[in-house]
Amino acid sequence: MEKTYSPIGVFDSGYGGLTILKELVDALPEYDYLYLGDNARAPYGSRSFDTVYDYTLECVKHLFDKGCELVILACNTASAKALRNIQQRDLPSLDPKKRVLGVIRPTTEVIGNYTKTNHVGIFATQGTVSSGSYVIEIQKSFPDLNVYQEACPMWVPLIEANELNNEGTEYFVKKHINQLFTQSKKIDSVILGCTHYPLLRPLIEKHLPADVLLLAQGSIVAHGLKDYLFRHPEMETMLSKHSNRDFLTTDSAEQFDQQASLFFGREVNSKHLSL
Ligand code: DGL
Repeated sequence: MEKTYSPIGVFDSGYGGLTILKELVDALPEYDYLYLGDNARAPYGSRSFDTVYDYTLECVKHLFDKGCELVILACNTASAKALRNIQQRDLPSLDPKKRVLGVIRPTTEVIGNYTKTNHVGIFATQGTVSSGSYVIEIQKSFPDLNVYQEACPMWVPLIEANELNNEGTEYFVKKHINQLFTQSKKIDSVILGCTHYPLLRPLIEKHLPADVLLLAQGSIVAHGLKDYLFRHPEMETMLSKHSNRDFLTTDSAEQFDQQASLFFGREVNSKHLSL
């Protein structure tokens, strides 16, 4: 039964999840969404497993307290390092009816449909790469695929600093593309396995070999959520549908609003949240 306010919670360490939210809102506009960016503690990409788990769980609990029945971890690092524990260890005691979903599984379930050479590449944060989550999940759906990962530790700080198109950024984009393709020249499909990276898409496309497909995670996740809601009417009927979009940030709301439109593509009016 629909509650008055039961938005879909969307969580990220900072701004990156807005690239996912944008696609969710486009694909499923009728739902309410509550976005939480943990900007005060971003970036997560270089943090330990335990720290990412603690921070993510704290934010998920907050979204639950605000009325969310369903939370999407729109952050690859949190999906890689915190999702499994939250699903298996915390949800049963917190509230067995609530659900937390990530962005890695929907992506890895379709990647094999795009590659012709069976060689795929992943650009991601150091945390996501060292968790091995992409490799493990891809093996489950497509055991014959060869997966090559490249950690790009400078990309998130450059994006967060709004340095999207200058020589320094171009240097780091070229460097990681070269390092990925040094691992295999047969790679024909590449995933941007960090929700920040779509902002570097024009530069990445400029330096990626012309015949390589660059997959957009946002639309894949949106399609996956649509499918999930179709298969889970018990969850779908609980979600409120007034097309509200609310935003919370653990850092300055003013600063969030200035930066957020770059990622979300439209104006944002956020509130500060003290954790
Ligand atoms: N947006 C996060 C991701 O998708 C990474 C940003 C960060 O390092 O906090 O992995």
